[in-house]
Amino acid sequence: MAEKKKKRILTGDRPTGKLHLGHYVGSLQNRVRLQKEYDTFLIIADVQALTTNFETPEKLSRDVRQVATDYLAVGIDPEVTTIFVQSMVPEIAELTVFYSMIVTVNQLRHNPTIKSEAAQYGYNDMTYGFLGYPVSQAADITFCKANLVPVGEDQLPHIEQTRRIVRKFNNLYAPVFPEPEALVSDIPRLVGLDGKSKMSKSLDNAIYLSDSEEEVNRKVQK
Ligand code: TRP
Repeated sequence: MAEKKKKRILTGDRPTGKLHLGHYVGSLQNRVRLQKEYDTFLIIADVQALTTNFETPEKLSRDVRQVATDYLAVGIDPEVTTIFVQSMVPEIAELTVFYSMIVTVNQLRHNPTIKSEAAQYGYNDMTYGFLGYPVSQAADITFCKANLVPVGEDQLPHIEQTRRIVRKFNNLYAPVFPEPEALVSDIPRLVGLDGKSKMSKSLDNAIYLSDSEEEVNRKVQK
């Protein structure tokens, strides 16, 4: 008997360093659970990481390996989840170019996540690549025809942008891509070691998945 076709999930991260407990509670745990129910794709978005880290491309290969190792350590099973590196699928870059013809600059400029990230990084004249990363994210999501995208709230504008691109593409040319839906996790943000703000690498208040037992003890006992 033919097996019922599973829905397909795509999700991922920008490789910008070690993953920490906040990532575990906020998304990784959920992905480990979902991989059993869905056909799961996990992208290590190295090209997207370049939108902010373009001055230090030499760090990328180490960061890609770090994220991949962290995935395996938390129980992402490479037998059931397809883990892949964005730059190794050139079709994603190709699709990004075609999508860029049907996205307007104003749509991108009004994206609230782009606005708040630009403010956070202090960009007053952001690059074309940074402004356009939601277009490349739409290519990440659609090249494998994903139906569902498990994300945090901050990523919702990008899923909305993807849906808009898909509708326009399908209407103009042929009904090729499914319109993906966000699967929002209502998981609270983990508080950092300072007890004040959310756990994050830039605030230096994180427990990393790769920390040794001694390191974790030292951090927790402080
Ligand atoms: N923008 C996401 C983040 O910063 C990472 C990402 C890249 C992503 N491509 C994706 C997430 C596709 C979901 C789907 O966390």
